[in-house]
Amino acid sequence: MIILKTERDLEAMRPACTLAGTVLDEIAAWIQPGVTTREVDAYAATRIKFYGAKSAFLGYRKYPCQICISVNDQVVHGLAGPRRLEFGDIVSLDVGVVHNGFIGDTARTVAVGGCGVLAQRLMDVTEKSLYEGIAQALAGKRVVDISRAIQNYVEANGFSIVREFVGHGVGRAMHEEPQVPNFDDGQPSKKLRPGMTLAIEPMVNAGQAPVKILNDGWTVVTQDGSLSAHFEHTVLITEAEPEILTWPEKKPSKLKDQ
Ligand code: MF3
Ligand code: CO
Ligand code: CO
Repeated sequence: MIILKTERDLEAMRPACTLAGTVLDEIAAWIQPGVTTREVDAYAATRIKFYGAKSAFLGYRKYPCQICISVNDQVVHGLAGPRRLEFGDIVSLDVGVVHNGFIGDTARTVAVGGCGVLAQRLMDVTEKSLYEGIAQALAGKRVVDISRAIQNYVEANGFSIVREFVGHGVGRAMHEEPQVPNFDDGQPSKKLRPGMTLAIEPMVNAGQAPVKILNDGWTVVTQDGSLSAHFEHTVLITEAEPEILTWPEKKPSKLKDQ
């Protein structure tokens, strides 16, 4: 069953999503060569707490960290630990917060200091594929229209879509119906209706599509060791244009809290 959000639900959910975007923005700006992923997770914890919210991930199916931090060939669900981020790494940051009883879910891949041209192109193509998908998030279209737009853009650029993990409905629960694959899986696909809130989240590999899970039970990596990128927004289907709910709060960078 797909849960359509009422205007009252959205009054609570919009701030949760803005907060997720803002925290993600702050973490991305804070990252630099030499910090450990554990320090990144601890910084995320302080920012989430500062806004009076909670991590939506910590404790979810026993997930042990505040956010997901996936470096280079790590695709998603990377765990914080002693690893130091190095200049040239790319790091996928996935932030989910609970606020007002609703969840905002958003992710972005950033370079640590700088990165190579392949890594930059991978990030650019993955981000653009997200917006290609969002452009199809229109009432009357189907979920598969989002999926196809993402897949076409990624594959036309020579990269691979991860199959094992998909986008999803999001609201009071992190994973609601429907699933939002980043490729056409050939399955019947639901019609998009105003009030649906979807987390659209292409995961894209520079090499081949297959992934595996490390022995920690969480970290997903590319099988061929190639780089991977991940971009995600929580989006509201409306009568007109889709509304991206997880934009960060607009504040001039010089006025940011620390
Ligand atoms: N945020 C992820 C998603 O986009 C889910 C993370 S689940 C966790 O769907 F357990 F790893 F936190
Ligand atoms: Co996410
Ligand atoms: Co998600």
